[in-house]
Amino acid sequence: MDTSKLMFRDGLMKGERILITGGGTGLGKEMAEGFLTLGAEVHICGRRGGVCEETAAELMDKHGGKVVPHACDIRVGEAITDMNDEIWAKHGPLTGLVNNAAGNFISRTEDLSIRGFDAIANIVFRGSFYMTHDIGKRWIDQKLKGSVCSILTTWVWNGGPFVVPSAMSKAAVNTMTQSLAVEWGRYGLRFNAIAPGPFPTEGMSKRLSPDADGAERMERGIANPMGRVGEMHELVNLAVLLMGSGADYINGQTIAIDGGMYNASGGNFSALTAWGDDQWTAAREAIESTNAKDKAKRTV
Ligand code: HXC
Ligand code: NAP
Repeated sequence: MDTSKLMFRDGLMKGERILITGGGTGLGKEMAEGFLTLGAEVHICGRRGGVCEETAAELMDKHGGKVVPHACDIRVGEAITDMNDEIWAKHGPLTGLVNNAAGNFISRTEDLSIRGFDAIANIVFRGSFYMTHDIGKRWIDQKLKGSVCSILTTWVWNGGPFVVPSAMSKAAVNTMTQSLAVEWGRYGLRFNAIAPGPFPTEGMSKRLSPDADGAERMERGIANPMGRVGEMHELVNLAVLLMGSGADYINGQTIAIDGGMYNASGGNFSALTAWGDDQWTAAREAIESTNAKDKAKRTV
């Protein structure tokens, strides 16, 4: 990311201690860099402990400051509690949480097994709740303020053909955002979300556009009113607005950042109704090969 394009003043996030789930890669890593540059202490977690360690080292080399990596699987409630106990004891209370970790792949819904559904729902639906619940209870007990931002998709408003477990789970996290904004607002806690359009990352592109054609269409911003994909600093600026101090009265909102794509074309994968068996078989093989490569690096 070109950090000169951050729109906020230096030091804006000094005193913030923010955990970004899935912060070792993709959008999570970009947000980690933005928050760090603006003075926050950043914690990142993922199942590939080595990837988080490399990211933390890379960002601290570049910008100084403090990025702490954690190997944690957010599907496991006890692992979340252990990580948060460690953060509180060794570093101090978090001031913010970004629910960014997710799993996803395109598939015809009739081709999904129960395990395939659970693979996504356990990360997005359950994991996001487990993490929010564990940290929220600490904030309430200790009478601390806190801010949560969840990274969703525009499918929370119109559904996600061919990504049904993701669309269902993200919609549930949207409901969590609206509900806790009201229930826990009285404790000084606020809950918002971002619904990004296409911001190509390796994790996303290899699972949602595994075919060369789809990847090219995505990269070129075809079907996007602005004729391009998102730039990382644009997403990061929005995340800073929600996670930094100064606009604390924003509570219970899910904000799209998609160049207008959702309004123009629904912003989802409805075009894949044109695919036949061969394309689905090839896509699945490509996705499963990506999954296997990533899985080999997991340390938890
Ligand atoms: C059908 C599939 C499949 C596919 C896997 N499965 N890929 N089914 N089509 N393409 C099935 C498997 O066959 C298996 O079921 C089950 O899913 C579990 O597979 P595992 O590989 O054991 O899963 P697991 O190790 O739990 O890994 C979870 C994962 C993986 C979600 C499958 O992709 C992952 O870890 N992803 C994390 C990163 C990620 O997905 N990033 C993308 C985020 S992008 P059976 O029954 O055969 O055993 C994103 C963008 C949104 O969300 C918006 C864009 C605009
Ligand atoms: P990504 O790089 O694949 O990010 C996903 C991250 O989640 C990875 O770092 C992964 O790390 C982590 N993760 C997955 N399961 C986990 C688990 N059980 N426990 C802990 N961490 C876990 O993809 P991305 O594109 O940056 O996506 C980031 C977020 O943006 C997701 O919520 C996604 O839905 C959302 N989003 C992205 C786009 C886009 O265009 N890129 C658009 C809309 C929404 P490990 O594998 O090491 O665990």
